[in-house]
Amino acid sequence: MTNSSSAPPAAPAIQEPQPRHRPAEDPAFVQALFCRVAARYDLVNTILSGGLDWFWRRRAAAHIRRWAPARLLDLATGSGVLLATCQRASPETWAVGADFCPPMLAQARAKRGLPRLVAADGLRLPFADGSFDALTVAFGLRNMASWPGALREMARVLRPGGHLLVLDFSLPSRPWLRALYRVYLHHCLPTIAALVCGERSAYRYLGDSIESFPRGAAMLALLTECGFRAPRAEELSAGIVSLYTAERTVAAAAIPSSRANCNLTTSGA
Ligand SMILES: C[S@@+](CC[C@H](N)C(=O)[O-])C[C@H]1O[C@@H](n2cnc3c(N)ncnc32)[C@H](O)[C@@H]1O
Repeated sequence: MTNSSSAPPAAPAIQEPQPRHRPAEDPAFVQALFCRVAARYDLVNTILSGGLDWFWRRRAAAHIRRWAPARLLDLATGSGVLLATCQRASPETWAVGADFCPPMLAQARAKRGLPRLVAADGLRLPFADGSFDALTVAFGLRNMASWPGALREMARVLRPGGHLLVLDFSLPSRPWLRALYRVYLHHCLPTIAALVCGERSAYRYLGDSIESFPRGAAMLALLTECGFRAPRAEELSAGIVSLYTAERTVAAAAIPSSRANCNLTTSGA
């Protein structure tokens, strides 16, 4: 008998589940989805994260407080929950929220009374170069049609040395926890969401988008490529969420822009 015939059959290679598709590449799909879930967005968030979202946003707001920016943009602000948390933690900061989904902005205004909200696409921001000292984007970048395009646009509207904070879902690094989390993400979560807001498909999209989104070293490399320096990653809640920070390089100032100033009192919602 040859070695090959006496050897035990090779164990099947363990395959990482692959995302079925990347629907975030279709902005109309993403926009329609968030407009549909806007009214129940906060409730579903709290239920699905078991209240952990409060802790993640507080963590982000603590960074903003430390940086003490004079002007802050919260991109993909949604119902304005991070913007309101940052504004409470740093009342001296002049902060604006931007999002391309008017019903989300309507929630931000009605529930949180946020005064400066702008309807805008993250890939074409209506702000002049270097307008902000800090920019936050929580659970928003993942949904944008081009991650490098959106990050370069963020670099453009930040001043040189300005701070970027990206908060988004990732996957736990421990294999057993990641496997368990995937069961929750792809099976339990869409079912719970279907019961709470009748939106199973929206929350199936969530799982797929998390699978395809860069995390850890890949995100740090992307930030460096897109005009940021000193990128750092911090895993929260065992890696379910990651918080990335970076500073805009001076070289990123060379990125041309034709965008005009925006009237910041316009909510567009
Ligand atoms: C998951 S919600 C996050 C909302 C909020 N940042 C939070 O932490 O709860 C994602 C938000 O990103 C917005 N969004 C997605 N793509 C966008 C884009 N290209 N430009 C502006 N907003 C976008 C959606 O409209 C939605 O309100």
